[in-house]
Amino acid sequence: MNETKPRVLITGATGFIGGRLLRALTKEGFPVRCIVRSSERFRKRFGESPGMEVVEGDLLNRESTRRALEGMDAAFYLVHSMGGRGMSEIKSFAERDRKAAENFVRASDETGLSRVIYLGGLGEMGDNLSEHLKSRQHVGEILASGSARATILRAANIIGAGGAPFEMLRHLAEKLPVMICPRWVETLAQPIAVQNVIEYCVGCLNVPETTGSSLDIGGPDIISYRTLMEIYCRVRGLHRIIITVPVLTPLLSSYWINLVTPVPAGVVMPLLEGLKNEVICRDNRIRELIPIRLIPMEEAICMALVESSEGPGKLPSVQACLLSR
Ligand SMILES: NC(=O)c1ccc[n+]([C@@H]2O[C@H](COP(=O)([O-])OP(=O)(O)OC[C@H]3O[C@@H](n4cnc5c(N)ncnc54)[C@H](OP(=O)(O)O)[C@@H]3O)[C@@H](O)[C@H]2O)c1
Repeated sequence: MNETKPRVLITGATGFIGGRLLRALTKEGFPVRCIVRSSERFRKRFGESPGMEVVEGDLLNRESTRRALEGMDAAFYLVHSMGGRGMSEIKSFAERDRKAAENFVRASDETGLSRVIYLGGLGEMGDNLSEHLKSRQHVGEILASGSARATILRAANIIGAGGAPFEMLRHLAEKLPVMICPRWVETLAQPIAVQNVIEYCVGCLNVPETTGSSLDIGGPDIISYRTLMEIYCRVRGLHRIIITVPVLTPLLSSYWINLVTPVPAGVVMPLLEGLKNEVICRDNRIRELIPIRLIPMEEAICMALVESSEGPGKLPSVQACLLSR
């Protein structure tokens, strides 16, 4: 174990972002502990590695959260509560989000955690925000109210294999020759490649000036969801017709998207509702604090396709993908 590096707790390590961050932090020699709801599921995916500890716990349970935080210097908060089966469970994610964040703050106050880094969502309060984006902002406020100094990274859709936004995009574009979309596909967003998100997360641990700040993170392209779909189709050489209709509600769309893609309805529904909100970086300080090359969406899609080991649209390599156009 490297004594000079802070000891880091990862919440949400079995997730899309958490799993990638775990690999990046262990590679950089950070001593890492993960709090997971099923250690068996975690070990099947990640196995064992030196410098990595796994504890079972649930953020909805304060005592198990406190045990996981014991002896940690910094923590990544990478948990959301979307999902569930029945409609009441699907709709109550914000309540679970709030409870998990409050438990975390109390537990981190008790254990003397120094830093928390939270990956939340872009979008401005008072802008008729969707329930999901509102909940992401509330979680940030709760985390910032604790004694651990908070860094809040705010992102729009994160593009990478296995992430809900990319998997929705990929399955829709691969399977439907004609896509009938709500008018909100015209909303502007600033998606970011998952590789850039991980660089920013690791960068926050290495750059103390990021402590106690809310920082917007985004890729180099500000585009509509329609353009994102068109980029995907261009990369894959697909000819698709995209029709927008004013009558299609997010609820109605989520039913058929759930049929076509592997993303559960409990995740699709709140994400779709958020398409009405513009999610663009307002504050670009991160670019000076952590200067990295921002990956264009075309390249991000190529990398995600190359990484996808199953499902439609697999490509042989990023080079082949970029050269074929
Ligand atoms: N994906 C995106 O495009 C995107 C965009 C902007 C911001 N973000 C933010 O990035 C963060 C991570 O998102 P993600 O896409 O990686 O999500 P994800 O793949 O769905 O993973 C969510 C993780 O949270 C864990 N979790 C949920 N409830 C928990 C609880 N009560 N106790 C302990 N663990 C719990 C899940 O564990 P189980 O395996 O046990 O279910 C899973 O590891 C979130 O804060 C999200 O808002 C994501």
